[in-house]
Amino acid sequence: MSVDPFQKLREKRQQAQLGGGEKRIEAQHAKGKLTARERIELLLDQGSFEEIDPFRRHRSNNFGLEKDRPLGDGVVVGTGAIDGRAVAVFAQDFTVFGGSLAEEHAAKICKVMDLAMTHGLPIIGLNDSGGARIQEGVVSLAGYSEIFLRNTLASGVVPQISAIMGPCAGGAVYSPALTDFILMVEGSSYMHITGPDVVKTVTHEEVTSEELGGAEVHETISGTSHFTCESDAECLARIRRLLSFLPQNNTEEAPRVESEDPVERRDESLDTIIPESPNQPYDIKKVIHAVVDDGDFMEIQQGFAANIVIGLARLGGRSIGIVANQPAVLAGVLDIDASEKAARFVRFCDCFNIPIVTLEDVPGFLPGTKQEHGGIIRRGAKLLYAYCEATVPKLTVVTRKAYGGAYCVLSSKPTRGDWNVAWPSAEIAVMGAEGAAKIIHRRAIAAADDPAAEEAARIEEYKEMFANPYLAAERGLIDDIILPSETRPRLIRALDLLANKRQANPPKKHGSIPL
Ligand code: HXC
Repeated sequence: MSVDPFQKLREKRQQAQLGGGEKRIEAQHAKGKLTARERIELLLDQGSFEEIDPFRRHRSNNFGLEKDRPLGDGVVVGTGAIDGRAVAVFAQDFTVFGGSLAEEHAAKICKVMDLAMTHGLPIIGLNDSGGARIQEGVVSLAGYSEIFLRNTLASGVVPQISAIMGPCAGGAVYSPALTDFILMVEGSSYMHITGPDVVKTVTHEEVTSEELGGAEVHETISGTSHFTCESDAECLARIRRLLSFLPQNNTEEAPRVESEDPVERRDESLDTIIPESPNQPYDIKKVIHAVVDDGDFMEIQQGFAANIVIGLARLGGRSIGIVANQPAVLAGVLDIDASEKAARFVRFCDCFNIPIVTLEDVPGFLPGTKQEHGGIIRRGAKLLYAYCEATVPKLTVVTRKAYGGAYCVLSSKPTRGDWNVAWPSAEIAVMGAEGAAKIIHRRAIAAADDPAAEEAARIEEYKEMFANPYLAAERGLIDDIILPSETRPRLIRALDLLANKRQANPPKKHGSIPL
């Protein structure tokens, strides 16, 4: 009988595949969760996974750990392909020590992150972990620090995507927080700095992990996550879709995806989308869908600061980032959350050579003590800074209102806007007619025989002069006034012209954005 010379390797491979064993795999499935390997399989193109370090294991003798040294040390790492494009991936294996992170576990993640940086590949982390491995103490913490450093150095170099598919607590949350996108799975994932027990001790609040940091909380209240997914499978499919809009790294362009949608397509419905009254809302997402290729728009942070809409789409096959005021929510006003949401996205697009299309209909910044005391000056400045420093193509369409400071902030021509146009319905002015007329004609209104009639006349006069796009067009502060229905072909033509845009900021270590 011949001896199989590779028997040991086969056994070890089988052992590594099993992670923490069948019982724990069953427990994982019972929670509605997939295992690390099943997740990787769904994420990547079939058969493309190249595993790294499947045999690595810990060397700790603490608390009897020497008797339990599972292969892989609780994390599966390697490279693979998504739609034929290479990516680096790590997936924490909850069946091994609860996916807890220690020296070797961290070293494996760092190894694949270093590889991603050298090869210029996106990094995808599938997080499912009880945090720092308690038995390994400070060595586990140091492992996190090594990862945080790499997250920071990789920021703006390769896209980084974090899926939260189980617990993610304590300082462990800061790796995802440093990455570009966070996806959370409803019902089975949470992120918080301190868990319910500590919260109860310190603040006497009684909350569950879900209430503290479940997917809904981070989508709608904290704004920490970018996507909420119904299941592991949906989450992994979402990552694949997201990557289709992104380049591999900061030296490349996003892939061009040909579509059947004609470049010259006009959408006549846009000519009647603006309501008669300037105070009546309409849904800016209808405009987005009508303009982009195949109406295909991947909205980001849908449930947070809905007064501004951000997301990825394509025009003429090119990836674009869209920033759009939403008149249907709070009249599209800019507030702290909206400013920060959009600022981060503008900077992301700028890092990765994705042109920014801004659809502007903004009555101004939200007034009130809550906003002022909350730091709207400092925090609204982030959006202004982000637009000003961005050197990717910047295209802006003013659909209706562009008032006050918000006009300046949202990619205005003097802040290096490349192609700024307005629809005929645009109103570009320092402030609304009612407020303006009262200020500049206060004495005349007070002295009039019929102050109300005088005020109404002055408001009309102001509207005639300023509540339109013609003054801005006369001064070259917009490049053209276009028909709403021709928005798509005109944007595509402008993007084509800007395909080779070259612009740089003054040499510096880095700016000091008002954080
Ligand atoms: C070592 C851990 C572990 C950890 C879980 N396990 N967390 N082992 N270190 N941090 C082990 C468990 O002992 C158990 O082993 C297995 O993983 C599954 O855990 P269960 O508790 O049975 O699972 P579940 O009921 O689903 O609860 C999951 C959990 C809980 C909520 C994550 O395990 C938990 O609270 N763990 C501790 C979390 C924690 O406090 N971590 C440190 C946070 S501080 P067996 O052998 O029974 O299968 C931190 C700081 C990071 O992370 C700092 C970075 C700068």
